[in-house]
Amino acid sequence: MKITVVNGTEKRGITYKLKERFLQHFGSDAEITEFYLPRDCPAFCAGCTSCFMRGEETCKDYEFVNAIEKSLLQADLIVVTSPAYVMHATGAVKALLDHFGYRWMPHRPAEEMFGKRAVVITQCFGAGAKSAAKDIRHSLSWWGISRIGTFDGALMSDIVWNNLPEKKRKKLTKKIDKLARKFARIDYSKPARTKPITKIKFRLCRMIQKRIRKSGVASLDSEYWRGKGWLDRNRPWKKRG
Ligand SMILES: Cc1cc2nc3c(=O)[nH]c(=O)nc-3n(C[C@H](O)[C@H](O)[C@H](O)COP(=O)(O)O)c2cc1C
Repeated sequence: MKITVVNGTEKRGITYKLKERFLQHFGSDAEITEFYLPRDCPAFCAGCTSCFMRGEETCKDYEFVNAIEKSLLQADLIVVTSPAYVMHATGAVKALLDHFGYRWMPHRPAEEMFGKRAVVITQCFGAGAKSAAKDIRHSLSWWGISRIGTFDGALMSDIVWNNLPEKKRKKLTKKIDKLARKFARIDYSKPARTKPITKIKFRLCRMIQKRIRKSGVASLDSEYWRGKGWLDRNRPWKKRG
């Protein structure tokens, strides 16, 4: 199986250690590709809207975004990690998620996403891990991913972690082990079931796209939806080989 990890920090701190522990459960058969932010996507979205209007390949940061996207589309499991920074995901994570705005369901979602699984790993010292996880889950769900597991740990920091006896550290990591075991048991040869909430979101976006089509306004998004057959009877969760 293929796992793509997007690390929301380059620091080899607690987030990194939790992620490493999570990945250990997948054994040597897992083909793991890792990206580190901001190194692998160091630029902010400039708000030019060129990805929406003229195509993602016209983005000034296409080289970075495309490399990550290619890997995400090939992955059986997507893992996104982030420590909490001022109660949210790191700015580097947000910068990447902004670049994938065109992949949100109202625009041009990739059909592969509707059958994928993802895991979000966040942690913090006091509070903010939950809202950081929410930041990431929000995008993943609007990309079309239905099955998203979350680890959001609190009371973590380098100083605390490094001074913990191994026994106590094991206790703290029990939760991540549980999540990892759950995701390691999955048969990745079969796509994830698309949940009703994802189908409802899709239906709403389809209504909007149908209305746009009817109004005669030409757009890349509209052509995309027509080309996929989603304005007719095709659905992204049905078209899987
Ligand atoms: C800029 C910045 C903002 C932070 N904001 C929060 C916060 O809002 N809540 C919190 O509990 N910890 C906050 N922290 C602490 C980190 O989330 C915490 O130390 C975490 O364990 C660091 O993870 P790492 O070792 O993977 O870098 C912040 C740290 C930094 C550098």
